[in-house]
Amino acid sequence: MKPEIIADSLVKRFNDLLVLNHVSFNVYPGEFLCIVGPSGCGKSTLIRILLGLEKPDEGRVEIHGHSPNPRMCKCIGYVPQDDALFPWRTVLKNVLFGLELKNENGEKALEKAHQTIKMVGLSGFENYYPHQLSGGMRKRVALARAVAVDPQILLMDEPFANIDAQTRALLQVELMNIWSRLRKTVVFVTHNVEEAVFLADRVLVLTKRPAKVKAEIPIELPRPRKRLSPQFISVRERIIRMLKEEVSI
Ligand SMILES: Nc1ncnc2c1ncn2[C@@H]1O[C@H](COP(=O)(O)OP(=O)(O)OP(=O)(O)O)[C@@H](O)[C@H]1O
Ligand SMILES: [Mg+2]
Repeated sequence: MKPEIIADSLVKRFNDLLVLNHVSFNVYPGEFLCIVGPSGCGKSTLIRILLGLEKPDEGRVEIHGHSPNPRMCKCIGYVPQDDALFPWRTVLKNVLFGLELKNENGEKALEKAHQTIKMVGLSGFENYYPHQLSGGMRKRVALARAVAVDPQILLMDEPFANIDAQTRALLQVELMNIWSRLRKTVVFVTHNVEEAVFLADRVLVLTKRPAKVKAEIPIELPRPRKRLSPQFISVRERIIRMLKEEVSI
């Protein structure tokens, strides 16, 4: 199968700080790839390079055979690390935002927005402003905004960070439901190894900065995954050990 995303030997420096040190990986159509790595190792930078918001100093990115460009934003949904909702826009208007960028307006756009809001479980809250929502609800809006434009690729940067454990587990299950329905290609950054093992087809483990790929671990457990099964715990512990090596060096 041809990769949908190719990251080939990416190097990124900010002045004297080397952040990415020849990072390479592929993502295949419909795949759910999770990226884990120590704080500050360059995960958000990597996502921003995939989006074309940052340029690598060396190496290249190919998405559908092209380097990232502004037109491509239409086929990529992005959930940034802070949910970055527009505080002056209601839930509905936040979700409509991406559609407006695609010049989709009127009844059809409105219907799409309502459908997506329903899919993330926020029907009834269309006219609320972000400050009137809980943290978990805000994460749902950010997800809806990214999904509404029907992108082929979803890039999610710690979308469920700073959420209580129960809500987080619920959001993970809901995301799995959405993903199995829509079959988008997903690149999902997280600090939470359990979350990565619950969601991913494959987990990419990065080293501490400057980041290299330390391991690529296929997760071959059937879905829905059982967090307490011995196989789940065993692969989770293996990845946690790898990350511990990085912070204790
Ligand atoms: N625009 C920038 N200018 C200068 N340095 C930057 C810039 N963006 C990121 N960095 C640096 O690059 C390194 C990696 O940052 P990045 O945000 O990619 O890490 P991260 O792995 O996403 O961290 P976290 O897990 O805490 O979100 C950090 O040392 C950061 O200070
Ligand atoms: Mg980050």
